[in-house]
Amino acid sequence: MTTTRDTARAARVARAGAIVLALASCRIEEVAPGDPRPPWQQIDRPSLAACGGCHFEVYEEWERSLHHRAWSNENVRAETNAFAQPGCRACHSPLPIFATGLDRRPAYRDVNQWDGVHCLSCHGLDDGVAAARDVPDAPCRPRRVPDFLTAQACWPCHEPTHHAFEEYDRSDARAVGVRCVDCHMQPTLHRAGRSHGPHGGLDPEFVKRAVAWQVERAGDVVRVTLRNRTGHKFPGEIPSRIFQVRFTADDAEPTWVTFRKPGKTETRADDRLDVDETRRLEFPIPAGARRLAIALLWKPFPLLPDEAAAVLGEWSEESGAPAVESGEEAGVSPPEASPEAGGP
Ligand code: HEC
Ligand code: HEC
Ligand code: HEC
Ligand code: HEC
Ligand code: HEC
Repeated sequence: MTTTRDTARAARVARAGAIVLALASCRIEEVAPGDPRPPWQQIDRPSLAACGGCHFEVYEEWERSLHHRAWSNENVRAETNAFAQPGCRACHSPLPIFATGLDRRPAYRDVNQWDGVHCLSCHGLDDGVAAARDVPDAPCRPRRVPDFLTAQACWPCHEPTHHAFEEYDRSDARAVGVRCVDCHMQPTLHRAGRSHGPHGGLDPEFVKRAVAWQVERAGDVVRVTLRNRTGHKFPGEIPSRIFQVRFTADDAEPTWVTFRKPGKTETRADDRLDVDETRRLEFPIPAGARRLAIALLWKPFPLLPDEAAAVLGEWSEESGAPAVESGEEAGVSPPEASPEAGGP
C-alpha cells in the first residue's frame, strides 16, 4: 500500500536526487559519491557532501548562518589570532555535542574546520542523527532524542564561555517553556521543519522582535520606554552588536544612548537591557523646539556609519501634539511550546 507519506517521501528523495545531479555538475569534488561510510560518520567531509545532497534546503539556510561561518568569520579570526589559541577552537569547529554530553563543551574537530558548526556537530550520534522522530529506514537513521529538543542542546557552546544560559535561566521565556529554537529556528512555511538560517543579529527583521517600545511626549521631556523581549540580555551575546536610541530636536546635535556588551578588557559598565527588563529614558525638550524625533538604531558592526544602521523603530513629532508610537506588535510573543518539545 502506498501512503501519502510514502508518496511525499518518494517525491522528496527524487528531488534530492535531482539536486545531487545538479550539484555534481558544478561542485563535483564536494558531492563525489563513493564514500562507503554512513552519513553520520562523515563529519570530516563538508556538510554539503555529508548531508546537503539530500537536505539541500536546510543546507542552504545553514550555509548563510554564522554557525557555518564560525571558523571563517573575520571577527573571530582576529580575536583568536586565526585560532592560534587552542582554547578557542572547540566550539568554532566542534565534534558532535552528543559525544561529550550536553552539559560540557564539545571537543575540537581538527579536520574540515572551515565548515564551522557542522550539521553533525549538533545532530551526530554514534549510530545515526538526532531528530524529533524516528525514521529507521532513512539513510541517515534519524532517531528521536528528547534532550535534543530542549534548550540544553544549545548549552555546550553557548554557555561555557559566552554565558547565554545564565540569562536565559532566569527569563520569562524559559518559565513559560519557550526554547532557544522557538525564537531562533522558526518553523518554515514550505516544509515540515525549522529554519536553520541566520536568525540573529545580522537579520534586522529578526532583531525588530527583540524590543517592544513606546515613545511619548510627557510635559517637557520625550519619554522612551523599552522592553526586552528576548530570552537573554539585549543586545545578545555577540559583543560587536550595538543598539542605540537617538533623540533629535530641530537641527541640534543629536543625543545618543548606547547599549552594548563591554569587551573583555573594557571598564565600561554592561548597560544592555537585562532579561525581561523595562527601561525608561527621558530626553529633555529644549525650549521652543518644534521638530522632535526618536530613532532606534541597530549596528551589527561597531564601525558602521550611522546612515548604514538598521532602523528598528522611528517616532517624530512636528508640532507638539501628543503622540505615541509602539513596536509592541513586532515583539516576540512567546509562542506555544512546540508539541514535540520536551520542555526548555
Ligand atoms: C542519501 C540521502 C540522505 C543523506 C545523505 C542524509 N539524509 Fe537525513 N534524511 C534522509 C531521508 C530520506 C529522511 C527522511 C525524510 C522523511 O521521511 O520525511 C531524512 C531525515 C532526516 C532527519 C529527520 C527529519 C524529520 O523530518 O524529522 C534529520 C534530522 C536528518 N535527516 C539529518 C541528516 C543529517 C545531519 C545528515 C548528514 C550527516 C543527513 N541527514 C544525511 C536522507 C538523507
Ligand atoms: C564554549 C564554546 C566556545 C568557546 C570555547 C569559544 N567560543 Fe567564541 N563563540 C561561541 C559562541 C556560541 C558564539 C556566538 C554567540 C556569542 O557571541 O556569544 C561565539 C562567538 C564569538 C565571537 C563573535 C563572532 C561574531 O560574529 O562577531 C568571537 C569574536 C569569539 N566567539 C571569539 C572567541 C575567542 C577569542 C575564544 C577563545 C578565547 C572563543 N571564542 C572560544 C562559543 C565559543
Ligand atoms: C556545537 C556548538 C554550537 C551549538 C550546539 C549551538 N551553537 Fe549557536 N553558535 C555557535 C557558534 C560558534 C556561533 C558563532 C559563530 C560566529 O559568530 O562566528 C553561534 C552562533 C549562533 C547564533 C547567531 C547566528 C547568526 O547566523 O546570526 C545563533 C542565533 C545561535 N548560535 C543559536 C543557537 C541555538 C538556538 C542553538 C541550539 C539549537 C545553538 N546555537 C547551538 C556554536 C553552537
Ligand atoms: C546548531 C545546531 C544545528 C545545526 C548546526 C544543524 N541543525 Fe538541523 N536541527 C537542529 C535542531 C535543534 C532541529 C529541530 C529539532 C526540533 O524539531 O525541535 C533541527 C532539525 C533538522 C531537520 C528536521 C527537518 C527540518 O527541516 O527542520 C533536518 C532534516 C536537519 N535538521 C538537517 C540538518 C542539516 C542537513 C544540517 C547542516 C546543513 C543541520 N541540520 C545543521 C539543530 C541543528
Ligand atoms: C523570546 C525569544 C528568544 C529566546 C527564547 C532566545 N533568543 Fe536569542 N535572540 C533573540 C532575538 C530577537 C535576538 C536578536 C537581538 C539580540 O541580539 O539580542 C537574539 C540574539 C541572540 C544571539 C546573538 C546573535 C547575533 O548574531 O547577534 C545569540 C547568540 C542568541 N540569541 C542565542 C540564544 C540562545 C543560545 C538562546 C537559548 C538559551 C536564546 N538565544 C533564546 C530572541 C530570543
